[in-house]
Order: sequence, then structure tokens, then C-alpha cells
Amino acid sequence: MLIKQIKHNSKEYQEAVDLRNTILRQLLGLILDEKDLQEEKSDIHIAFFENNIIIGTLILTPKDKNIVRIRQVAVANDYQGKGIGSKLVKFAEKFAIDHKFSKIILSSRNTALNFYKKNGYQTLGEEYVGKTIKVPHFEMIKYIA
Ligand SMILES: CC(C)(COP(=O)(O)OP(=O)(O)OC[C@H]1O[C@@H](n2cnc3c(N)ncnc32)[C@H](O)[C@@H]1OP(=O)(O)O)[C@@H](O)C(=O)NCCC(=O)NCCS
Repeated sequence: MLIKQIKHNSKEYQEAVDLRNTILRQLLGLILDEKDLQEEKSDIHIAFFENNIIIGTLILTPKDKNIVRIRQVAVANDYQGKGIGSKLVKFAEKFAIDHKFSKIILSSRNTALNFYKKNGYQTLGEEYVGKTIKVPHFEMIKYIA
């Protein structure tokens, strides 16, 4: 296994976009469009490789000098429940600590709530329905420094 940062618009990035569309968008009848991809140009893109194939991905979006947001966490169907999502989150947390962020925030779908709780995140406020992903979500936070 290998976890590393990948570059926006690279071949690896495109592979991660395909995985995100399959895992996070398709079932809801959605797809990431050109505007979505342009907007994440300055984000930090992280990928988990098994035999040179991307089977997990996560994005970090800095919000200000203290806060960074975890987004778009996706693990390929056949590989879920094997600790890959947690390894991606740990890698992202180390990156955030190394870059002097003190808080990580995220929006969790209800279905992933326990996953984030197990990784030390706590809910903030009430359940809400996402604007793009119209399923129940919770806002979550972890203090890392
Ligand atoms: C949610 C997701 C990223 C978790 O990654 P993963 O590699 O499957 O999770 P891990 O194996 O690291 O799980 C860590 C812990 O969380 C729990 N967990 C994982 N997914 C869970 C889920 N959907 N519901 C409840 N608990 C879950 C596991 O049981 C595990 O606990 P354990 O170690 O005590 O068994 C992955 O399952 C996924 O891509 N799901 C579909 C897309 C999605 O919902 N993404 C998040 C959008 S907010």
C-alpha cells in the first residue's frame, strides 16, 4: 500500500475523480462537472494505492489558517471496512498538523457518522440535508492541536 498527495489535473487525479463519481455521486444520479473540478484546484488531493491502482481518496480544503475541511472521502466498494478510510483520515490529520492547522471540520453523511466518530470526530449541531448531496448530514469537528 501507498498513501500520497496527488496533483490536481494529473492522470492520478482523474483516476481519483472516477472513484469519487462511482462511490459518492452515481447512486444519487450526480456527477462531478468541470466547475466542481476547477474549484478544487488549490485543494490537497490524497490517494491510497494498492498495486498502483487508486482504491481510496480524500480531499483537504483549507478554510483559513487554523481550519481545514476534509471532503470527498471514498473507498472502493470491495475494499470498504478494511481500515483504508481510517488510514486516509490519519494521513490527512498528519498533513494538517504539519501545516499548523488546529481544527478539522467535515460534513458527514448519516451513513458515515460512526466511521468519523471512531476516528475521534464529534458532531456539531443538528442533522441537516445537504445542498448538493440531498441526504441527511451532520457537521463534525476534531481539534488536532
Ligand atoms: C465511509 C468510508 C470512507 C469509510 O472507509 P472504510 O475504509 O470503509 O472504513 P474503515 O475500515 O477505516 O472503518 C473504520 C471504522 O469505522 C466503521 N465504519 C466504516 N464505515 C462505516 C459505516 N458506513 N457505518 C458505520 N461504521 C462504519 C468500521 O466498522 C470501523 O470500525 P472497526 O475498526 O471498529 O470495525 C467508506 O466506507 C466509503 O467510502 N463509504 C461510501 C462513501 C461514503 O459514505 N463516504 C463518506 C461521505 S461523508
